[in-house]
Amino acid sequence: MITLNQLKSNPYLSEFIKRTETRMHNLKYTNHGFDHASLVSDRARTIAMEIGLAEKEQELSAIAGFAHDFANFLSRGYHNYFGALIFYQTFAKDFSPAEMALLMQAIANHDKFDMEFSDPISAVVVLADKSDVRRSRVTIKDMKIIKEDIHNRVNFAVKSTKLGFNKQKKIITLNLKIDTNFVPVMEYFEIFTERMVYCRKAAEYLGYKFGLVINNFKLL
Ligand SMILES: [Fe+2]
Ligand SMILES: [Fe+2]
Repeated sequence: MITLNQLKSNPYLSEFIKRTETRMHNLKYTNHGFDHASLVSDRARTIAMEIGLAEKEQELSAIAGFAHDFANFLSRGYHNYFGALIFYQTFAKDFSPAEMALLMQAIANHDKFDMEFSDPISAVVVLADKSDVRRSRVTIKDMKIIKEDIHNRVNFAVKSTKLGFNKQKKIITLNLKIDTNFVPVMEYFEIFTERMVYCRKAAEYLGYKFGLVINNFKLL
């Protein structure tokens, strides 16, 4: 099996992520390119390590995290399935059938329409992906557009994000600091609920509870 660093040097993957980055920016979405891929990859590795997955599963989590969104350059709808299939076509010789199946599942199952878990790697990727909310993910500069779009607004309001692990109590907590001048906590919670349901579902699959703390208020 190749490592994340070796995977990153594949010119097809780089081009697909580059195109995804541009396409999503043009569609006024938050970043789905290298920035998001790297953050989700790092976070997936951290989660996998913190919950005690084996080293190989940590690497697979980081790889799936890096590659989960690259097929957005083709279409937003079904990008998870396109991603899984193109991943196979691009990297078939680099992974064993068992490794490839896990990676394809993690990519295919990260989207809300097919979010059913049958292995920890898929759940780790969902937790890493759905918890990526932050101001720096907003690529649009025009404040009028940011305020109009719910995803841009939610992300723009977040000044800092931190995942915490309590291994004794088995709780994974997402700590957010949000700008309440921009979005009040209650409105934030309202529009953020769906994402939190995915995080909770993923955490539960891993045997953890999921906690949400916004500006030191414990909301979950
Ligand atoms: Fe996605
Ligand atoms: Fe994503």
